[in-house]
Amino acid sequence: MTAPLRQAEPNAVKVALGTRAYDIVIGRGLLADLGERIKASRPGARTVIISDETVGKIHLAAAEAALKSSGIDSARIVVPAGENSKSYAIFEKVCEAIIAARLERNDLVVALGGGVIGDLAGFAASCVRRGLDFVQVPTTLLAQVDSSVGGKTGVNSRHGKNLIGAFHQPILVIADTALLDTLPKREFRAGYAEVAKFGLLGDAAFFAWLEKNREDVFAGGPAREHAIGVCCRGKAAIVSRDERETGERALLNLGHTFGHALEAGCGFSDRLLHGEAVALGTVLAFEFSARRGLLAASEIGRVAAHLASAGLPTQVKDVPGGVPGVDVLMELIGQDKKVRRGTLTFILVRGIGQAFIENNVDAAEVGSFLTEKLANA
Ligand code: NAD
Ligand code: GLY
Repeated sequence: MTAPLRQAEPNAVKVALGTRAYDIVIGRGLLADLGERIKASRPGARTVIISDETVGKIHLAAAEAALKSSGIDSARIVVPAGENSKSYAIFEKVCEAIIAARLERNDLVVALGGGVIGDLAGFAASCVRRGLDFVQVPTTLLAQVDSSVGGKTGVNSRHGKNLIGAFHQPILVIADTALLDTLPKREFRAGYAEVAKFGLLGDAAFFAWLEKNREDVFAGGPAREHAIGVCCRGKAAIVSRDERETGERALLNLGHTFGHALEAGCGFSDRLLHGEAVALGTVLAFEFSARRGLLAASEIGRVAAHLASAGLPTQVKDVPGGVPGVDVLMELIGQDKKVRRGTLTFILVRGIGQAFIENNVDAAEVGSFLTEKLANA
């Protein structure tokens, strides 16, 4: 349930995973404390900061200064910005650079960036020397509410997204909301799709709160911190109960089965960002659920209206240049990690805040649904 908005929200969320439990700290200006927090949890550790070229230009010097002021040695690895850095080639470069920087088992990798950097750096940390610890410093809204929490790390295969990876939890997540001030508006909007997702999958009161407060979340200030905190608490609770996605964690994939196929089908390009694909995929998941008689059409209208008010695509025709044909999309859906021996698993909904896992969905039913959607686009 969504707590009422207060000026002084508690700013730490615990991810309760026994000996691998960690904190997510949320607040403005926390990057300045990076060194002190690392020193407190890992005295004597050296660090390698992994970032991308865009974030690196804006925030890397401040991160390095924060470490230096606490007497922490750091090296830097900077990769090109964008989804294409979640590749074998860049993964290899990052691993080799961590080894060249002579990081040892007690040292730390620091992921400074969005979901791409968190996934890539976390996966490299999980592999080098059979596992180095790492700290997430998420710099996008999407990464602060979702990807930096829960330990899913990985890179993309030519067959689809995130097909090579590992569960590897960070030891700390520092969500400095001031870092979002430099995020391009389009990237903020894309991240908002994952914020709305948390309401849509299991917290109708939070979705209703977002309907009233979306503009304040976009403007920044306490509403934004409140929304990030709600999402992190929601995700932390699910992850602590189902770290390896044997059950309810799959609910976090609401909108992602359609979304990943659309994103891959658009070549992981600027035509459709990950969060935009999730927005479109979420509306498709609601429509597919309605086609099965699970919910009223008015619920779809509410979801689509809210996502559209945030400037997100909600229809196939909103994607510049269009989307690939049904055959290509079905091939990509067939590669999704949520496929078990050929049958599809989808996250469907009985209403806003009422997502559930549906196994054994017939691929032909999905194919004919997509054929209708594309014909009407
Ligand atoms: P991203 O990491 O590519 O960042 C988006 C863009 O914003 C990049 O160009 C980046 O350079 C720039 N940027 C980042 N922070 C900035 C800042 N503060 N100021 C200015 N520019 C900034 O994309 P994303 O949307 O953060 O993450 C998407 C990725 O996250 C996808 O690969 C997706 O699969 C993954 N993801 C993972 C999980 C998980 O649980 N591991 C969950 C959701 C999404
Ligand atoms: N973003 C989906 C998950 O972390 O499980």
